[in-house]
Amino acid sequence: MKNNRQKILILHPLYIDVNCRINKCFMEYALVTGGSRGIGRAIAVLLARNGFKVIVNYHANDREAQKTLSLITQDGGVAELLKFNVADNNACMAAIDNWQQLHPDDYISVLVNNAGIRSDELMALMDVSDFERVIQNNLLSFFYLTRLLIPQMVRHRNGRIVNIASLSGLKGVAGQTNYAASKGGLIAATKSLAQELAKKKITVNAVAPGFIRTDMVEGLDEMSLKQMIPMARFGEPEEVASLVNFLVSKEASYITGECININGGLYS
Ligand code: NAI
Repeated sequence: MKNNRQKILILHPLYIDVNCRINKCFMEYALVTGGSRGIGRAIAVLLARNGFKVIVNYHANDREAQKTLSLITQDGGVAELLKFNVADNNACMAAIDNWQQLHPDDYISVLVNNAGIRSDELMALMDVSDFERVIQNNLLSFFYLTRLLIPQMVRHRNGRIVNIASLSGLKGVAGQTNYAASKGGLIAATKSLAQELAKKKITVNAVAPGFIRTDMVEGLDEMSLKQMIPMARFGEPEEVASLVNFLVSKEASYITGECININGGLYS
């Protein structure tokens, strides 16, 4: 049993900082893209609650990103914001390079590629730019960012990569040829990268949510859609976060190359 003085000392930031440096930082860094709202926010909050130092990436909405940061810090967690566009290769390189310069002794051991968009339209009516934009945001972003973090994960023989895909990428959805292609590509890339990195103790998995209650599904007819779902409801961002939290944990060390559905029983 620790006495009160020891307990106070252990909670003191200076003690944590010194201890952190002695142990070469026992808290690991997790980068969550698109963390200013929705599923990304829920993941960031849960990973921070479970002891990760969370780097919350966001693109534009400073106010919502600050809200994610406050949720984490009010909960006693540690987080920082990192604003950049994951769909821009140069922006990804600049952001990671800058972060690494500010944290020369650290590395990012967990990457959650969550940022994504949709722009639905029947393919015959879809603009080229809408197809390209969705591929750029949902699939190329995975390549731009992940490749930058792999070398450090390999060096440390430790890493977790989780890609947020979609049921659409497994079964296809009318009006989502662009989105389904991006998420289907992400699932295939997950399986390939998992095989490349397995020997280095880095796992790579995908999560395929069905309908999750976030801004992304706003405007959809929930009443009629939920009749198709065996659980008769949309999922919550926190439920997806729980799955991601498991996949990045030590307990999930033998799971790689998987795409795990989280959809209330809504299979193709
Ligand atoms: P959301 O629209 O609430 O959040 C997406 C986040 O990604 C936003 O914060 C947005 O700013 C960010 N983002 C988009 N493009 C970005 C970029 N270029 N750079 C940085 N950040 C960017 O949507 P939600 O529902 O939270 O989606 C999260 C992920 O889950 C997405 O990849 C989405 O495709 C996927 N998903 C969501 C489902 C749902 O029913 N909500 C179902 C299946 C998959």
